[in-house]
This record gives sequence, structure tokens and C-alpha cells, in this order.
Amino acid sequence: MTARYLRLGVNIDHVATIRNARGGPHPDPVRAARAAVEAGADGITAHLREDRRHISDADIERLAREIDRPLNLEMAATGEMLEIALRHTPHAACIVPEKRTEVTTEGGLDAASLHNHLYPVVDRLSEAGIRVSLFIEADPRQLEAAARLKAPVVELHVGAYCDAEGAERARHLERIRAAAALAEELGIECHAGHGLGFDTVGPIAAIESLVELNIGHFLVGEAIFGGLDSTIKRMRALMDKARAEATGDKCA
Ligand code: PXP
Repeated sequence: MTARYLRLGVNIDHVATIRNARGGPHPDPVRAARAAVEAGADGITAHLREDRRHISDADIERLAREIDRPLNLEMAATGEMLEIALRHTPHAACIVPEKRTEVTTEGGLDAASLHNHLYPVVDRLSEAGIRVSLFIEADPRQLEAAARLKAPVVELHVGAYCDAEGAERARHLERIRAAAALAEELGIECHAGHGLGFDTVGPIAAIESLVELNIGHFLVGEAIFGGLDSTIKRMRALMDKARAEATGDKCA
């Protein structure tokens, strides 16, 4: 059986974090995006935060204009971000919860409780031809809410799986597997991301209902030691190996 291809979206936020530490133009996240594409990234992900702590408005403008792979804009469901997304019409927009004080995106969006707030945002983005994804926990309630919102895509937050160990990690993995299968049943394309690294990507990549992984912090951090090109290629190889083994397809 031929394994279903698993896309890799490379999140370049933390190239911008390093750049912003000195306030100059180096290192340039758009250059990193180009290098990521050359190394085998299927798409580029960037999170424009309300406080602009890493990616800037100018970065989004350049990414949309200069990168010839799908751009996945991570955004909070605010009027400001909706306006920016509609201006740049990225390939996809992933709606994430956002708190000013958090270090990174903590937990998924409560799509079930926020239906009335999210519905017009999902609707406007979809009308503009942008593929909307909701960043949610691996929870059937959230998947059913995503279906009611008519979101074509969900991204499962796998941070808790990555942070856990032993039996607890196995429990998280089972939840992610079940959620990905339910998404497929509901006709929703299923992605996963947050916290993935070389040690944690295999069992996630083996889940055949998943069609895309978005990975950032680990790749940018590991690139310090191995370079971006070889780090991305190694991640790609680990994903392909796990997927091929899961489907018994040794040649994929
Ligand atoms: N997916 C989403 C929706 C995210 O918010 C993030 C973090 O910005 C990622 C994927 C990537 O997570 P990490 O940087 O931990 O790989």
C-alpha cells in the first residue's frame, strides 16, 4: 500500500525572535523560509501575534509575495488579524487562541464555547478563498464544534503529548489518533503541531489520518547545531520513515 504523503509546514517565527533580539534585519525569516522550501518544506507557517513579538507585518507581506509555497498564517480571531488576512489572502489561516502573557500558544482554541465569535471569522476567511484551520485539542467536542463552524481543516495541539512521558504520553497519543480518525470521518482535513522534535515526531507521523505537521521551535533551535537544511531534511526523513512503516510501504 502506498503511504499517504505527510506535508511538513515549517514555522519560521523563531528566526524572527532572534532577529528582534537585536532590532536589525538579521537573521531574515524570509531567507529562512526560502531555505526551508529548498530543504523540502511543503509550506511555511508564521504567527503574526497581536504584540508582534516575533513575526512583523512586513514579514507577512514579504512571505505572501516572495515565497512560492503555501503560506499558513497563524492568527487570533480578532478584527485586526482578519483584516490583515483578507489583505494578503494566504493559502491558509490557522486560528489560534492568544494571550498576551503566554510564552507560546498554550492549549487549543475552545471552538465549542466560541462558536458565535468564530463563525463570522471562519466565514469571511473562507469566502476569500483562504483555507481555515482551527487549532484545537484532540477532543471530540472540539472536532464537532469545528464541523459546525464548517472549518475545512483542524490542527491538533500535540504539545501535551510532547511534554509527557511513558504511559501518559501513550494516553495522549491515543487521544490524538482517535481525534484524527474522527476528523477524517467528519470530512475535516487534520493537521498536528506544537512541540514536535526528532524524538516525538515518529508516532505522530505514523497516524495516517494526519496530512500535515507544523514544526518550528525545534527546527530553528536544532539548526544552530546542524544547519537548517540538514535539520529539515532529517525531520522530513523521520516523518517519511514513520509513515512508510505504519503503512507497510518501505518505498514511500
Ligand atoms: N502549530 C501552531 C498552531 C502553533 O501555534 C505553533 C507554535 O507557534 C506550531 C504549530 C509550532 O510549534 P513549535 O514551534 O513548538 O514547533
